Amino acid sequence: MTQKVLVVDDDAAILEVLEMRLSAMGFDVTATSDPRKALEATDAVRFDLALLDLRMEPTDGMRLMEAVHQRQPRLPVLIMTAHGTIQTAVEAVRRGAFDYLTKPFVRDELRSKIARTLATRRWARDRERLLTVGQALASSGVMTRVLDAVAQATVEATDADRCVVFQLEQSRLVPMASAGSPPPSWSKLEAAAKAAMDKGVPITAAREAENSEGGTIVAAPLVVQRGPAGALVIETAARLEPGEDDLELLALFSSQAAIAIRNTHDLERLKSGAVAALGRMATQVAHEVKNPLAGLRLYVRHLEQRLVKTGDDEARDLAVKIAVTVDHLASVVSEITAFGRPPELHRVRTALHPLLDECLELARARRPTDGVEIIRAYDTSCPEAHLDVRELKKAFLNLILNALEALEGAGRLTVATEYSAAAGTVTVTIEDTGPGMTEETLARAFDLFFTTKADGTGLGMSIARSVINLHAGELTVSSHVGNGTRVQVRLPLEPTIDPARVSDARA
Ligand SMILES: Nc1ncnc2c1ncn2[C@@H]1O[C@H](COP(=O)(O)OP(=O)(O)OP(=O)(O)O)[C@@H](O)[C@H]1O
Ligand SMILES: [Mg+2]
Repeated sequence: MTQKVLVVDDDAAILEVLEMRLSAMGFDVTATSDPRKALEATDAVRFDLALLDLRMEPTDGMRLMEAVHQRQPRLPVLIMTAHGTIQTAVEAVRRGAFDYLTKPFVRDELRSKIARTLATRRWARDRERLLTVGQALASSGVMTRVLDAVAQATVEATDADRCVVFQLEQSRLVPMASAGSPPPSWSKLEAAAKAAMDKGVPITAAREAENSEGGTIVAAPLVVQRGPAGALVIETAARLEPGEDDLELLALFSSQAAIAIRNTHDLERLKSGAVAALGRMATQVAHEVKNPLAGLRLYVRHLEQRLVKTGDDEARDLAVKIAVTVDHLASVVSEITAFGRPPELHRVRTALHPLLDECLELARARRPTDGVEIIRAYDTSCPEAHLDVRELKKAFLNLILNALEALEGAGRLTVATEYSAAAGTVTVTIEDTGPGMTEETLARAFDLFFTTKADGTGLGMSIARSVINLHAGELTVSSHVGNGTRVQVRLPLEPTIDPARVSDARA
């Protein structure tokens, strides 16, 4: 693509010479002696380089440069100056010019300085952006934060109005991060993302002729080993045609985003491997502990009965306390054993709402709810579903218990359902107005044995997620400190055959 150069000089002869030479060097030249026209041009076209004369009437080159930079902040400017004003030229560089050229021009100087400016500018720009993204990659394992940094860097580096990173999740494109102004149409960006993923290379979406407002959309696929995992999409204003430079940068940033996604995949695989190993170990330990616990339980009952007979109430109370503790241990152990071997699902046709009601009842029996407002917002159009009742009860009970524990007896708990006939899914939302989670807690909430509670075991969320995954559903959490927590469970109403699972199982 031809690079565009703006030349402004009030000396018509110089202007002509420059226009000729630059055209001969292969540039698309806009030459004018009128600073106003120059500014109009920068409003309409994106330039790759500007050559501005230092001394012009009525505006001097320095002020013109500042006005140009307001419109195109990253446009490299070469200030042209006659002998004897080198000092001013140095000042110009200090104020944001890339370099200066002395008049009269020496042919090679013109050529070499322009080449250097164009090359250096790109490297400086790329290095700076890569540094930000690199830091984000290194400093946090939270994928969305890395994708945010990528989106932000992309907007800054390409002059795009906005950038959105889409990720493929269960064959849907989900916007994971965005920067810049909100898009007028998400569907166009999504369509471009899809096209880039299908083609496997960056694509430019044709602008609609009748819509003069519409900008240009460019999308680059995020390629990880298994194929495209999403796409990085930018939209620019109509006047800013994305150049070759932009496409290269986009490819660069999309590869960064792909690395972030791949790292997360790797981490999840590692984690699930570790979870499986932990599960096996936990099951063994639990088996070892189970029988002695049963014995202890029996001895304590014995002791309790004897103490009742002797009338020693104080000692009897102690025995009761021991029994309660042993019971608690036994229930933890049975949860661990259950977790160690993911169950086969026993699906039966089930109405979801009574199941949720039952979980609410069970949870209320276990946690105080006097000051808690409980709202049930069920979608009555939701049909029966093929689900494993026992397993799902365990999942929803854990989620509702978490919400009630977060509320500590005050606030609002909402349990809502929403049926999507088109997708054949129902989404269950469990939301509380509790204290919410910090970013770190949220990142670790699904880790086995991670808990922030004095008497928590840190199993509830892991259990809930593994049950939902077994149903080929999806569990997502959004939570902010001070703003409560929302857990959403999307469940297919009928068992589906997930091709990814089938191939995973074969591998
Ligand atoms: N609704 C919520 N509000 C705030 N924090 C939550 C919520 N749900 C989960 N958490 C956080 O996630 C952590 C892990 O939850 P999880 O259910 O796995 O374990 P737990 O509740 O601590 O123990 P248990 O095994 O008894 O459920 C909790 O300790 C808590 O910090
Ligand atoms: Mg819990």
